[in-house]
Parts: sequence; C-alpha cells; structure tokens
Amino acid sequence: MSDNTAKLTMGDKSWDLKVRPGSIGPDVVDIASLYAQTGCFTYDPGFTSTASCESAITYIDGDEGTLLYRGYPIEQLAEHGDFLESCYLLLYGELPTKAQKDDFVHRVTYHTMIHEQMSRFFTGFRRDAHPMAIMVGTVGALSAFYHDSTDISDPHQRMVASLRMIAKMPTLAAMAYKYHVGQPFVYPRNDLDYASNFLHMCFAVPCEEYKVNPVLARAMDRIFILHADHEQNASTSTVRLAGSSGANPFACIAAGIACLWGPAHGGANEAALNMLSEIGSVDRIPEYIARAKDKNDPFRLMGFGHRVYKNYDPRARIMQKTTHEVLAELGIRDDPLLDVAMELEKIALNDDYFVEKKLYPNIDFYSGITLRALGFPTTMFTVLFALARTVGWIAQWKEMVEDPSQKIGRPRQLYTGAAQRDYLPISQRR
Ligand code: CMC
Repeated sequence: MSDNTAKLTMGDKSWDLKVRPGSIGPDVVDIASLYAQTGCFTYDPGFTSTASCESAITYIDGDEGTLLYRGYPIEQLAEHGDFLESCYLLLYGELPTKAQKDDFVHRVTYHTMIHEQMSRFFTGFRRDAHPMAIMVGTVGALSAFYHDSTDISDPHQRMVASLRMIAKMPTLAAMAYKYHVGQPFVYPRNDLDYASNFLHMCFAVPCEEYKVNPVLARAMDRIFILHADHEQNASTSTVRLAGSSGANPFACIAAGIACLWGPAHGGANEAALNMLSEIGSVDRIPEYIARAKDKNDPFRLMGFGHRVYKNYDPRARIMQKTTHEVLAELGIRDDPLLDVAMELEKIALNDDYFVEKKLYPNIDFYSGITLRALGFPTTMFTVLFALARTVGWIAQWKEMVEDPSQKIGRPRQLYTGAAQRDYLPISQRR
C-alpha cells in the first residue's frame, strides 16, 4: 500500500485502489470500482472492516474509549451542555450561539403536541403490548399525519420533519408508557425544559400536582446526551438504508426503532437489568461469570462488550456517576442490584477471559439501574434510548439525503445456493 494507493493482486493481475484518509481514524480503501475492474465482490458480513458511508457527525476511537460529537468529547458535552444543545450540534455541525439556541429550543418546544387523532392509534394496541412495539407503529404512523414534511427533496420540509421528530418523540414515548400502565395521557407543557417535560408527561397524573425534581431532570437530560448518536451502529445504518430508497423520514426512524429493539443493540439495557435481577446477590456472580465464559452456554454478560469499544465505554463512566447521583438524590442507600453490578464489573474486569477479549462495561450496564430508580419499568428502557437516538438518526439521515453522491444502498452477496435447475411437476419430485 503506498501513501494513497493500495494494490490488489489476484493471480497474475493486479489493480490499484485509491486509499482515502479520514480527518482522524483509519484510512479506507475505496473499493467502489472493484467489481467493474475485477468482477469480484468483497465479503464482510457484519461490516467489521467496511465503512458504509462518509460522515462528519460522530467519531469513536474504540481502542482509546473516545466518543466525539462533531469533534467535542462526550464527557464535556454531558458535563457542561444540555441535550437540545447536543441536538443542534449533531444536526448543524456547530454549537449554537445564544440566539440560535433560543430559536432552536423554541421551535422544538412548539412542535411537541401530536395530532389529536394519533391518540386513537394507542388504544388499538393491547394494554400489555411492549412499548417498543407501540413506538414502531406510532412513529411510522406520523407519516400518515404530517404530509407537509414528507417531501425529502425540499430542504424546508426536511428541517420541519427533523424538528417534529425530536419534539414529538418524548410525547409518543410518554404516551406509550401511560398506555402501558393504564393511566391517562398527559399533554406536553411548553414552560418546561425538554427532559422535565418528558418526566412530567410520564409521571404526572390529573389528580395531583407533580413537581419535577431538577436533579432527576438533569440526570434524564444527561442520559439523552449520552445516547444521542453513535456513528454507523445497526439502527443508524438501518435508518440510512431505509432512507437511501427515498422513504420519508418518519418511516425511516420507525425502521431504526425496530432495529434498536434487539437485545444485542438497544434492548441490552433491559436485558442487563433483567440479568442483574436474575443474579440477585453477589454470591451468585461466579456462577454467571462461568456461564458467560462457557462456549456451550449461549448466555452473555449483558451490558458487557462492544463491537467498537475495546476499552471502557466512555458513556458507561458518565452513566455510572449519574447512577450514584440519582440514587443519592432519591435517598436509595442500598440498592442490591447496584451492589451486584459493581461487584460483577470488578470481577469481570480482572478475569482473564474478559481482559483478553477486551470486554468492558458498555453504557447499558449502568443505565438500567438509573432508569429504574427514576421510576421507569424495564420495558421502557429501550424506548428512552430510541427517544434520545432520534436526533442521531435524523442527523445521519439528513447528511445522507444532502450528499449529492448518495445512491440506494444495495449490498451484494456471496451466493451459495443451488445453481440454475428446471422446475419439476409435483408428481416427479422425491
Ligand atoms: N459476555 C461474554 N462473552 C462475550 C460477550 C459478553 N457480553 N460479548 C462478546 N463476548 C465474546 C464472544 O463470545 C466472542 O468470543 P469468541 O471470540 O471466543 O467466539 C468474543 O467475545 C467476540 O464477540 P463477538 O460477538 O464476535 O463480538 P461483536 O463485536 O460481534 O459483538 C456485542 C458485540 C455488543 C453484540 C457483544 O459484545 C454482546 O453481545 N454484548 C452483550 C450485549 C450488549 O451489552 N449490547 C449492548 C451494546 S452497547 C449499546 C449499543 O450501542 O447498542
């Protein structure tokens, strides 16, 4: 490989392939012309070595444990900023000035209500429906209500759709929760900030006043910042792939929510808390560590390991601090699940299996304990992830749609099925 060329040799032929540098991070070998030149495809299931797009939004250095939104470290954004500021940054590339921030907050705030008829969608679901199932359905249904923001070729409509999505997601998530627990829906309140409004819509009831605790609202806001984007993860790639066909943004985000639901992705926070409950006490940890290491047992330590991070997930560190803050604010001195989590982390971080495979706690390891303390049932955990990730999905979708070189995503395959053969009438088949 020279400075900007890689050489591919097959038999007695060789080809030069362009090497493109990123601003930071690994270079990429541009193989877009490979098929035309060689008649071969590349093979990389799970995209372990393949960059699926060019992006200027989020950067992860998995070995160092670094996460940057538009160049800013997640630790600084979580410590000094708020979620809507991170939203602006992800969408537009720069931190807002005071006037830009005020305008953005105003525009998001005044899009929080949803069409009244949307509430009928909720009543069509069984009461015991998983809130993620409700989210997939209702977010997709937004495209049936907001026809004036589904023309993706119009920059104004794209902007309105982006704001609507960020603004309405907390309302839909809170409605999914309220429907799940059998309480009346609570309308958004424009005098509250983004996180406080969400907590209010979830936990207020018409028969008494609900005062939002500012410490808990700050924790909620920080959780939203930590989940806002994570470059080309499975759900973001799903949103991009759905969007590459020209589908409207509401439908694309619904596709992202469906992908996020899986336990290997966003569903891991729910699975991690269930696992901690199942372990139950510190003395049972060795049994579960042994199971996680057993090749014949499908069990994995949920909240451990990451495709990209081969170091401590920087979000997990902030999450752990937030967990302690929330528990202290709520006066929860002894949480048996937190004891199990901290001991499990200690043991795993010193165990050869986890050390060698570079399996560290990820964000989902501690988020479940915090969300449970805030009052959310486990079934809502992934919904909160979806709410926060919506801005990332939208920013990545917008970046793709605005890229003049964008084309429909259409992976190739290594076909290993039957070669062409002739149809046999049923009487001749054995
Ligand atoms: N517990 C025990 N062993 C593990 C674990 C785990 N949590 N994660 C990976 N391994 C082992 C795995 O068995 C494999 O071993 P071997 O090389 O001997 O076959 C090796 O580590 C590599 O695992 P992999 O599945 O090839 O790695 P991956 O990059 O495909 O998977 C992962 C990443 C996140 C899906 C996986 O680590 C996992 O299933 N973790 C538990 C689920 C979880 O916490 N997911 C949340 C991810 S963070 C939130 C988000 O961004 O969505």
